[in-house]
Amino acid sequence: MDLVNTKGKFISFAESECKGNSELYYKLSKQVSGDDTLLKIAATAKAGQPVPNIFLAAVHYLLLKNPGNGLAAYYPSIGKKQVPEIPFPLFRSFCLDNEAVIREIILTRIVQTNVINRCAYLLPVFSKIITEENRPATIIDIGTSAGLTLNFDKYEYWYNNQKVYGDSKVIIKSKITGSTIPALFPITQPIQKIGIDQNIIDPADTDQIIWLKALIWPDQAERFIAMEEALKTEELKKIEFFRAETIPDFEAVILNADKAHTLIIYATHVLYQFPQTQKEAFDAMLERVGQSRDFYFLSVEGTESLLQRYQTREIVIELTQFRDKKKSQTLLAETNGHGNWIKWV
Ligand SMILES: C[S@@+](CC[C@H](N)C(=O)[O-])C[C@H]1O[C@@H](n2cnc3c(N)ncnc32)[C@H](O)[C@@H]1O
Repeated sequence: MDLVNTKGKFISFAESECKGNSELYYKLSKQVSGDDTLLKIAATAKAGQPVPNIFLAAVHYLLLKNPGNGLAAYYPSIGKKQVPEIPFPLFRSFCLDNEAVIREIILTRIVQTNVINRCAYLLPVFSKIITEENRPATIIDIGTSAGLTLNFDKYEYWYNNQKVYGDSKVIIKSKITGSTIPALFPITQPIQKIGIDQNIIDPADTDQIIWLKALIWPDQAERFIAMEEALKTEELKKIEFFRAETIPDFEAVILNADKAHTLIIYATHVLYQFPQTQKEAFDAMLERVGQSRDFYFLSVEGTESLLQRYQTREIVIELTQFRDKKKSQTLLAETNGHGNWIKWV
């Protein structure tokens, strides 16, 4: 990967993902974008992986494992106090001192963030479908990571600073812009929950949980709390997990779903990690399944093809429905990467 390209990724990460969400990573990413030595290290990431996320997570991971390091005090996730910025010279020298291990981490690990706040749009969509269909449902989360968004029905929801649903220590918060707060229907039907991932995060595996936490931006204390609480929920044990990474394996799990159930498949921030040929094979697989049964597919991505289809620069929430072998596709809403705001269409 050339340095100009890597530099551009850090600038774009700062401007379109961190701005307004993480002041620390905003400043840090801009500083890294101007440092060729650090860009060279970051460029070691595997093809398809979001470079700034994995590079910053690698440093965060090492600090979470070594909280006594001087740099750790500037990470609110570890030092437990907010700071105006992470001192760049200290950050830089930590990276150079730990260059070999950082390269090893970003070469071997993948970005597997599990962003619970994405439930902010899952609950309105799923509760409506399940209520309208009025029968038990099977929900399959492709690229489930630790499976935390599958428990969307167990959390507490606040929209526009108003509590509107549930009672839980896992708090989902979002701002509804340009539309009204969506109707939320009580879920009274049983749901069979299935999570598929190439690498299922096991809540009992300390190292995997440190990596999951390392992927959270260090000044987002609420996300750390939500993650810890969500990992403790008993319902997590009821999810059926499948380790799979190929389209035929996904298809086998999908075709096995109870035909009497409403079937909802979803993927949030996953398909962008598929090479183009795999994405095409995935779409073809959905078409095949649609010829054998009705189902819904909710896709939440910021891939260029979706952005172009809907003429937007925001993350697209799109619902595909197969009914009687016919496909229909609707743009439901636009959002940001973490579901902090949602603009329903
Ligand atoms: C950025 S994470 C998003 C996790 C979760 N969907 C969320 O929104 O919080 C992407 C996930 O997709 C998974 N993934 C990527 N490619 C995959 C593949 N070919 N098969 C299975 N899982 C895959 C990764 O392992 C990772 O857990």
